[in-house]
Amino acid sequence: MRGVEQIPWLYDAGMVLLEKTGFGRWRSWLTGGVERGCLLDLGCGTGRNLPLFGSGVRAIGVDPWHPSLVKARRRAPRVPLVCARAEALPFRDGAFDTVVSGLVFCSVGDVPRGLAEVRRVLKPEGFLRMLEHVRTRGRFASWLQDRTQPAWTWITGGCHPNRETEDAVRAAGFVIDEASYRAQGDMRRFQAARTGDGRPGGQTSSESSSPLPRGADRRGEGRERQDQEAAPRLPRRAVSARRLV
Ligand SMILES: C[S@@+](CC[C@H](N)C(=O)[O-])C[C@H]1O[C@@H](n2cnc3c(N)ncnc32)[C@H](O)[C@@H]1O
Repeated sequence: MRGVEQIPWLYDAGMVLLEKTGFGRWRSWLTGGVERGCLLDLGCGTGRNLPLFGSGVRAIGVDPWHPSLVKARRRAPRVPLVCARAEALPFRDGAFDTVVSGLVFCSVGDVPRGLAEVRRVLKPEGFLRMLEHVRTRGRFASWLQDRTQPAWTWITGGCHPNRETEDAVRAAGFVIDEASYRAQGDMRRFQAARTGDGRPGGQTSSESSSPLPRGADRRGEGRERQDQEAAPRLPRRAVSARRLV
């Protein structure tokens, strides 16, 4: 049984409504603030992010659902697309300057493994930009969310609304940049950097000597070196997957 995430026209119709009623600002943040370098749009789905990245960004989209990638191909004909899961990314270590994940880790089957893969494919100085909805606050609301989660997951085709994704990101060895962090209701968006040793990270304070730039606006810093670096080498599998889409 397919859920909304597996029916591209239905997903897009719902998204158009959401984007017109406020979600568009969250998506603009997710896709903005990256000026250059190699970027992985993880769980790109129907490719709604892809046309929004800056012209200096070399983006690659990944999603496990082929019909969504076909839609993404129409939306962004020049972006390489790869049919793969977060838990097994077919890219070499340190291939990307940025990984973007929009509403994906609520659906990923094995979250720790998926985040470990994100960490692996990011350069040591790379960033994860994430937009997620997380477990609701309040005892009754979260109790209700737990009860309705199986039905919601079935209808949507994978989404788990009651995940503590921020905790999972820290546990996977990332530190969340406080300056980039926004919370509104159950929505969260933030930029995170790898901790040096893979141990769980925390949250930077605005006064700390964070390795991160202060929010999206300073993403241009340190770009000269990144510009000199080569694009990620895609394995054969990725190239052939691109042709399929
Ligand atoms: C809610 S949609 C978000 C799509 C897109 N990122 C956007 O912002 O519109 C969730 C996406 O995650 C993808 N997904 C589900 N499980 C995944 C996994 N294990 N690895 C990567 N992507 C996954 C789904 O196929 C779907 O396209």
